Amino acid sequence: MLSLVFISIVVVACGNSGSTGTTTLTNGKGCTKIGLLLPDTSTSARWESKDRPLLTQKIQAALPGAIVDYNNAEGDSAAQQAQVEADLVKGDCILIVTAVDSASAATIVASAKARGVPVIAYDHPIESKNLSYYVSFDNVRVGELQGEYIAQHYKEYLEGTNANVAMINGGQTDNNALMFRQGVLNKLQPLFDNGTLKKVYDQYTPAWNNDTARVEMEGILTAQQNNIQIAYVANDGMANSVIAALKAKQLNGKVLVTGQDATVAGIQNILTGDQAMTVYKAIAKEAQAAADLVKAFHDGTTTVSLTKGVTTRTTDGALIPAILETPVAVDKTNIAATVLADGFVTAHEICQGLPKGVGNFCP
Ligand code: BGC
Repeated sequence: MLSLVFISIVVVACGNSGSTGTTTLTNGKGCTKIGLLLPDTSTSARWESKDRPLLTQKIQAALPGAIVDYNNAEGDSAAQQAQVEADLVKGDCILIVTAVDSASAATIVASAKARGVPVIAYDHPIESKNLSYYVSFDNVRVGELQGEYIAQHYKEYLEGTNANVAMINGGQTDNNALMFRQGVLNKLQPLFDNGTLKKVYDQYTPAWNNDTARVEMEGILTAQQNNIQIAYVANDGMANSVIAALKAKQLNGKVLVTGQDATVAGIQNILTGDQAMTVYKAIAKEAQAAADLVKAFHDGTTTVSLTKGVTTRTTDGALIPAILETPVAVDKTNIAATVLADGFVTAHEICQGLPKGVGNFCP
């Protein structure tokens, strides 16, 4: 009997496999040196302007005195791996990683695991069964919001019967880009199948490179002789480049352009009428979720109330406990009620550089 009790205690104490998210945590216990590894500074304004400061603030609020050891890989997955190795040597004992490459970052998780260091995949998936947690948004839903918007508004952009759609997707090594595209197709495939809309282009944009998106749009306009009504663009950074290509042909505002991230530039493009919509992802909530997990690791407490049984499946078939926040579609009708009301962007930021009266918004 006694030995049975002993065995069950040992099982609980070692139960930090991360496979259920319901066990008591042991790795990371007492840890106050957190490695934060973000992917780049150029594909979206979010990483430097939102994720970095919010994660730092929220981790330090959850664990007063904690050190946040920040690295940015500038889009180089080998550099990110080297940053992780250096962090582990320095003694960072919990890692929050937005992988440059969802597949190759499995080696990051392996290195960390070898030292008993848990890894939280932040925003981008990491395809490893040894991952501890995944914190992100419902990324298929992000794509569905973009697709839904197109399905509801394409008629405003038709030219005669032409309804040509170009899909400029994100970077293929970020598995989020695959989920966004899947979400869009969940909504638009029926319209492609019945001929309501015609898909004339559908490509991933390597590394979410914003400049490449402009080159893509220029190529599409040439190939289609400017006959494009809808440009599905995966995020605001690429949308801004696509809009530049449209402006060069005086087609801005005449093509439905989507985006994502509710960046200041994205909201400005919505107010000027050059972009139709964006997707607001409350990064404060995402950062808070990561900070809550860090605190749970530090305290060695259960995370059931954080993950609520939600899991995500990796490509190697493992179920990783996850916290997935809810995205919101934003267009000119709800800027005030969403991103402004939340303080995600301010009217001052938005109106800086915009002519007075634009979108009936700036005084
Ligand atoms: C993020 C987006 C971001 C994109 C490029 C995606 O995985 O979810 O918010 O715009 O990466 O950085």
